[in-house]
Amino acid sequence: MEKKVYVKSYGCQMNVYDAQRMADVLAPEGWSQTASIEEADLVVLNTCHIREKAADKVYSELGRVRELKRERAAAGHETQVVVAGCVAQAEGGEILRRARDVDLVVGPQSYHRLPALLAEARRTPGVVDTDFPAETKFDALPAPSRDKTLARGVTAFLTVQEGCDKFCSFCVVPYTRGAEASRPAAAIVSEAERLASSGVRELTLLGQNVNAYHGAGPQGGDWGLARLLQRLAEVPGIERLRFTTSHPRDMDAELIAAHRDLPQLMPYLHLPVQSGSDAILDAMNRKHTRDDYFRLVDRIRRARPDIALSSDFIVGFPGESDADFADTMDLIAQVGFAASFSFKYSPRPGTPAADAERQLPESVKSERLAALQAALDRQAKAFNAATVGRTVDVLLEKPGRHPGQIAGKSPYLQAVHLDGDGAAVGDIVSVRITATGPNSLFGERADTPPHRATA
Ligand code: 5AD
Ligand code: SF4
Repeated sequence: MEKKVYVKSYGCQMNVYDAQRMADVLAPEGWSQTASIEEADLVVLNTCHIREKAADKVYSELGRVRELKRERAAAGHETQVVVAGCVAQAEGGEILRRARDVDLVVGPQSYHRLPALLAEARRTPGVVDTDFPAETKFDALPAPSRDKTLARGVTAFLTVQEGCDKFCSFCVVPYTRGAEASRPAAAIVSEAERLASSGVRELTLLGQNVNAYHGAGPQGGDWGLARLLQRLAEVPGIERLRFTTSHPRDMDAELIAAHRDLPQLMPYLHLPVQSGSDAILDAMNRKHTRDDYFRLVDRIRRARPDIALSSDFIVGFPGESDADFADTMDLIAQVGFAASFSFKYSPRPGTPAADAERQLPESVKSERLAALQAALDRQAKAFNAATVGRTVDVLLEKPGRHPGQIAGKSPYLQAVHLDGDGAAVGDIVSVRITATGPNSLFGERADTPPHRATA
């Protein structure tokens, strides 16, 4: 009988990608994916550990899964429960102590062993595999499946790099995802070719530190991210390229030049700064100053004047004074961000900042986060308002909310809704932006017929 797996992902885009890879590993064993947890014989919670609430969510979800497992057992169905992702990696056996119904705890380095681990867990529930094997998971994962039932749409993520050696003092990633490792260029190119031939038009290259990419080139030697992007731009059918997440220290001259020279590379860059205070940046072990960031932004904008920048911010880091926070607000005002993500600092066990003195009270964190988000919201709205009246290319991704409507993304990653007018998902159409809504832009076709990609 067909077995059904339900994967729920939390957190970053890397997890979204990993979820698909887990499904790919399980498919040859007779597992098909389901969107309904009630009918799942296997429930995988693909967890995130980066902030406190994410781990809390997992434990409350496990409570619900436990109920479900009981109900299904009463009806004669067995359900296996797997906790994967970074909480699995960080907490290991602790998860089994807090949630006894879990059958398997598996870290991101071991997904290629899922079928064997599930078989082991069926014999003796409560298996934990959070080892860092000698080979990287890139070597061990099968090629992604081309099963049409796993339709990926016209945009796709592609992991090129994993792990991080930066050790920012607040961050668990170097501990949960391990040391920085890059995938060989040839493997990435063939995955891109496969995705393009199944209809993908836009690739977002993923890595915790994606611009630190230094993979083996097809003819030996190391390729940096700029070289990789140039090669991927040659893949027939790939019309757009993006990458995330970048560290300011790794924005080299070639990558900045690629933003000037490579038409497929979209004018949007997620470049987290975390704080605008030199003292806090130092305590965070970010290895750059606010001035380094300003200079970098200048160079990037000289290469690509219309580039949209986004960032992550942490407020309430241990020892952050009013003056430090004012420096962050000042940096935001000087740079101008199109979009942003901001968080209250949350101490992550095992990271240096968690043991720092002068942890700030929750009330200060909340107050600062509200002020920061108000400023960032204003900037995002201003950025969107400035597109009204402009004509931009939109990659059409899915039908819109209303009949005849179609929705896609601008080069600046803004959601755009318009009347389809004969255009199809996968087309890139020229759209005049007419209005902004709370979460998206509205526009009308400025061209006929649409530019249809050839693959
Ligand atoms: N507390 C709050 N935010 C954090 N981030 C990472 N670790 C923490 C933490 N301990 C944020 C950073 C990072 C984003 C992915 O999550 O801003 O860039
Ligand atoms: Fe974490 Fe810093 Fe590495 Fe980003 S660069 S993954 S914040 S340690």
